[in-house]
This record gives sequence, structure tokens and C-alpha cells, in this order.
Amino acid sequence: MQIFHHIASLRDALKTERLAGKRIGFVPTMGNLHAAHIELVKQAQQTNDIVVCSIFVNGLQFGLNEDWDKYPRTFEADCQRLRDAGCDFLFHPDDREMYPNGMDTQTRVICPTMTDVLCGASRPGHFEGVTTVVTKLFNIVQPDEAVFGVKDFQQLAVIRRMVEDLCMPVQITAGTIHREADGLAMSSRNGFITPEERPRANQLNKSLNWVAGQIRDGRRDFELLESEARAQIEAAGFRVDYLTVSDSRTLNPAAVDDTEITILGAMYTSGARLIDNVSVEL
Ligand code: PAJ
Repeated sequence: MQIFHHIASLRDALKTERLAGKRIGFVPTMGNLHAAHIELVKQAQQTNDIVVCSIFVNGLQFGLNEDWDKYPRTFEADCQRLRDAGCDFLFHPDDREMYPNGMDTQTRVICPTMTDVLCGASRPGHFEGVTTVVTKLFNIVQPDEAVFGVKDFQQLAVIRRMVEDLCMPVQITAGTIHREADGLAMSSRNGFITPEERPRANQLNKSLNWVAGQIRDGRRDFELLESEARAQIEAAGFRVDYLTVSDSRTLNPAAVDDTEITILGAMYTSGARLIDNVSVEL
């Protein structure tokens, strides 16, 4: 695996591959790679000749009081995992390479829909940071295809919308959610869950699945379902950020006759904010 810290050298290497007719797949990450990230790389390998992974803990998408400074940085271990997976190129820029004019004056990419709700409501500016950095990364890598995990359902929806609105020539592919044996969605933030909380940390997933089951069984009293699920999570000792039954395409609250529904949730453990979602097709 070749490692690049600079945009120019990565572009040179990719130009050679592109001229040789190679199809380029891309998996953007913030590092601290776990099995789910590696699955995205493997998925990209299936339909591309060259796979590029990026590791960049993007300050622009973190709020002032969020965990940018303590976000786990495990570069050596990440490199090993990517090498073992057969990843071709790793792009690992620093802040100066990505934001040479500073973050405050960086030109932004704003998606005006779907970004003020759910994670966007509790993390103002977060999605603007994501769409801006993903645009920059797409411009640097110019991939044919980019793979994003369904675990970040809202992020995937916003990126799809951005690509469509801005006519970006990138195919966006979804990667299924990878979970621990008890259902907890894999996340770089799971390392912040205390050993005492860990056995109960799958409650978010349990409650989302419970709501999905109730909907499949015919219930359409979504608001009551949401409050019952919230109560389950609070009873397990966690604070709920949001738990909503949404229209999968718009992320608006689901209507009773919707056929594609996604239940999305976020909860706080003492050391981490965890998100998850479960989709139901009726
Ligand atoms: P990060 O949280 O590192 O996630 C990188 C990719 O891995 C995202 O597409 C995310 O959805 C996917 N992923 C993480 N956990 C997953 C799981 N349990 N199952 C399936 N996919 C999973 O998302 C980001 O980084 C950043 O916002 C980024 C897009 C890189 C922009 O900075």
C-alpha cells in the first residue's frame, strides 16, 4: 500500500492509474479503523481496480464542545489493517494540507435540506463540515465510486443529495451496518463506552428493532412508539438525543401511509454519543 500525505503526489499516482484505464474506488474515513471500515474497502475492491482510503479527522465537522481533540488516532494500526485488506492507496493529509487557508475562511458546501434535523439539530454545522470535506476529497481523488456506510444514514442521504445537486461524477454506494454480536453498531466511539455501560449499550439497537417490529405488526402511532422506545433507553440508564420514525427518502417524520421507513436514534453514554438506525420496507 502506498501512503500519501500530500494532494499533489496522490494526484500524480492516480493520474497514472486513470490513464491505464483503471477504475478508482474511494472510502473516506476518520481513521481508528474497525471491521466495518474494512468491509467498505472490500466492497470497493469488488467493483474497482484501485481502492483509495483516506484518513482525516476533519475538524470542520466537529462542534466546539465535541470530541475532535480526543477522537482516537491510531495511524499505525490503521495502516496495518488496510495493508492486510489489500488497500492500494492511503491518503493521510494533515490540517494544513486540507485547509491551507485555515478552516474559518474555507469555502463551504451547504446542503439546505435534511441537515437541520436529527444529528444536524444537535450538531449545528456538522453536515456542512462533512459535505465540504467530502467535496474536497472527491476533487482530490476523483473516484468513479465512493462507498459510505448506512450506519450514518443521514450522512449518506446528504451526500447522495449533494452529488446529485452538484452533478458530481461519482457513483455513491451504500455499505451495510456492521455490528458487534449483541447488535451494537461498530463505531470508533465505542472505545469511549465504559465497561460498566457496555453490556447495556446495545439498548439503542434493541429499541430501534423493537419499533421496527411494532411497525411491521401494523402499528402506525409513531409518536407513541417513539416515546415508548425513548423510555426503554432511559430505563437502561442512557440519555436520548433523538429517536424518530422517519420517511427514508426525506428524513421527515413518517406519514402513516409511507412504505419506506427508517427509525433513527442517537443516545449519550457517559463518554460517547452513539447513533444507529433500522429501516423497514412495507
Ligand atoms: P467515519 O466515522 O470514520 O466513517 C467512515 C465510513 O465508515 C462512513 O461511511 C461510515 O458510515 C462508515 N461506518 C462507520 N461505522 C460503520 C458501521 N458500523 N457499519 C457500516 N459502516 C460504518 O463518516 C465519517 O468518518 C466522516 O464523516 C467522513 C465521511 C470521512 C467525512 O469526514
